[in-house]
Amino acid sequence: MNTDYSLCTTAGRCAIVGSMATTKTIELRTEIPGPRSREILERKERVVADPLSIYLELVIERGRGATITDVDGNTFIDFTGGVGCLNVGHSHPRVVEAAQEQLERFSHTDFTIIPYETYVTLAERLCDLAPIENAKAGFFNAGTEAVENAIKFARAYTARPAVIGFEGGFHGRTLLSLSLTSKTHPYKAGLGPFAPEVYRVPFPNDYRGPDWKTALEALERALVTQVAAETVAAIVIEPVQGEGGFVVAPQEFMDGVRRLCDEHGIVMVVDEVQTGFGRTGKMFAIEHYGVEPDLITVAKSIAMGLPLSGVIGKAEIMDAPGDSAIGGTYVGNPVAQAAALAVLDVIGEEDLCARASVLGETMRARMESWQERFPQIGDVRGLGAMLAVELVRDPATKEPDADIATAIVEEAARNGLLLLKSGIYSNCIRVLSPLTLTDAELDEALGVWEQAVETALTA
Ligand SMILES: Cc1ncc(COP(=O)(O)O)c(C=O)c1O
Repeated sequence: MNTDYSLCTTAGRCAIVGSMATTKTIELRTEIPGPRSREILERKERVVADPLSIYLELVIERGRGATITDVDGNTFIDFTGGVGCLNVGHSHPRVVEAAQEQLERFSHTDFTIIPYETYVTLAERLCDLAPIENAKAGFFNAGTEAVENAIKFARAYTARPAVIGFEGGFHGRTLLSLSLTSKTHPYKAGLGPFAPEVYRVPFPNDYRGPDWKTALEALERALVTQVAAETVAAIVIEPVQGEGGFVVAPQEFMDGVRRLCDEHGIVMVVDEVQTGFGRTGKMFAIEHYGVEPDLITVAKSIAMGLPLSGVIGKAEIMDAPGDSAIGGTYVGNPVAQAAALAVLDVIGEEDLCARASVLGETMRARMESWQERFPQIGDVRGLGAMLAVELVRDPATKEPDADIATAIVEEAARNGLLLLKSGIYSNCIRVLSPLTLTDAELDEALGVWEQAVETALTA
């Protein structure tokens, strides 16, 4: 079991919340985990490898929109959003229908053996949406694979080996992406050696420092002290660091990275795996900056959680690797791609980018009101509906407080709101709720969160 976070709810509290919430979305019928969840989790302990530890001790029966109902009949509001895969919500009917229809027609060929139109149509639509002139696309399965392939495109194009990433960055868990990922525990410790020619520099952080100028100077200095600029294939940057705690890159820093890439012929890779598909109020977060990247990596919300990822980029870079140097048996699965086309329709028709901005404004105002009351909320930050609060023991020292973040998450879960932590110190709580969340659900969720903050911080 994951000792960092587990749910141990008393039946008494659930009964109280359940009776209060009869007209609301949240409905808690049993203690959590309920008996059926507990039984499945016990079976899991016997047959599933321990590293696949469980963050929330409840077993899902079904998801709809912004809610999850567990196998014991408890209904929660889900702000974990499948770790950012569910911008259109759980099992959006349009997406379900598209995936089902495709599954009935055919499930797999390998696009490079027998091609299908869905792949081409999705490439057309994403190349059209991405803020890159004359773009081409390639599809993969997971975010990590998109990042690894972006580096392959960049290396083939530049004929250079090195890659630069940032402290606090997260890019995946396979060898090259894990080498770029910047959090030792739990992701890297004991799993080396890592891929060579990966360099890391500080990421600007308005709350903890460094400021953008200092960070940019560090990047420029790294090209003198660590790795020759003419050997760098790519700089990989998240516009808003996801696992790093929703740290937003300042405009000046993004401009500076673009300038350095231009000066030295380096491929600028923007990792939008977590920021993409409307989360920040734009289809891609990089659109907030007016900066044209060379490559964009996408995954997560692209297909409502079906395994699909992609790289979209300048045609000359995407065309650089030799025939068959890019590919894989399952890459660009047609069922996931049919889902992705429906996801794009839903984002457009339901205006989910605008919705993300509105949700973000409401949430930020509420979070800032908590910050005024509780100095332990050191920072409120993010972009659109990609928002987080950072918990500290003391606002003066900014000493991270992961325990209090856990206490808030546990208290919220006990009362029917599922929250997710993040940050290099695991002391941030982030919002990855579906963007289809209704106003009533938002209000109810923020009420539960606020109560959890009060309970944890006044205990
Ligand atoms: C920015 C970013 N890049 C890459 C990844 C890796 O994606 P996946 O877990 O699908 O391999 C993640 C996952 O959280 C991510 O947030």
